[in-house]
Amino acid sequence: MNRFQEPDARAIIADLALPAGSAGLDVGCGVGLFALWLAEAVGPKGRVVGIEPSAERVEAARALVGRTLPSGRLEFREGDATRLDFPDATFDWIWCGDVLHHVQETGKALAEFARVVRPDGRIVVKESQLLHGVFLPGYPALERRLRQAEMEWSRHEGGEFSFEERRQRTPASLRAAGLRVESFRTYLLQRQAPLPEATRDYIQRVAFERNWGPRLRDRLTAEDWERRSALCDVASREFVLDDPDYYCLYPISVVVATVP
Ligand SMILES: C[S@@+](CC[C@H](N)C(=O)[O-])C[C@H]1O[C@@H](n2cnc3c(N)ncnc32)[C@H](O)[C@@H]1O
Repeated sequence: MNRFQEPDARAIIADLALPAGSAGLDVGCGVGLFALWLAEAVGPKGRVVGIEPSAERVEAARALVGRTLPSGRLEFREGDATRLDFPDATFDWIWCGDVLHHVQETGKALAEFARVVRPDGRIVVKESQLLHGVFLPGYPALERRLRQAEMEWSRHEGGEFSFEERRQRTPASLRAAGLRVESFRTYLLQRQAPLPEATRDYIQRVAFERNWGPRLRDRLTAEDWERRSALCDVASREFVLDDPDYYCLYPISVVVATVP
């Protein structure tokens, strides 16, 4: 989805020590950046397939990174987490990054993951912000209210539970699906001014304009919306990303499970 996480993502992938030459599936690969970094990690004899539910997203991944590696090492196809179009035991591992909280039928998806991974293979589920990150340093009360409004908003897609609740239930979901949780580790991404372009772009477009954008307006008081706009709108004189003391903190959790 973004290059904002790239240095941390590469470190997380390195910590997994995926075997050189192994075959992996990236479920919900978005525009394919993680699939590329995973394919690089397993080397020239390895293979990664990224799947996305819509043809449009598959095309976006192919266009962005599809030609980066020699053919056979990285491939993108249409597919859904709950109906994987692969024979049993096709892959050595599965990567599912910031996707599982979008999938309503969690158990069905995890059963499919377990089916297409070989015995003793790994299922890696990454979810961000099991703990709240900090995007508005110095404004904790306002940020808490924005995050509460965001959590309430996400119930319309997340069903019974908000995205945040679903993310926090990841280890429990894996266990409920009969998988063995082997490790659970949280990394902390930290960036500070002057911000790398990818960080600035992500926070402005995804965190401020999308996540905390117009969709939250009716869930906030007029006063909070005004304050949010002063701090988060790029045209504002108080735009926080222009503050020379700005920083952000963003936790990323990685749960690794195996099929017992
Ligand atoms: C937050 S994005 C993460 C994309 C990518 N994994 C990354 O880390 O950059 C969530 C992705 O999950 C995909 N997704 C949602 N429901 C899915 C499903 N049932 N099966 C597979 N992918 C799904 C979306 O299309 C979207 O690309």
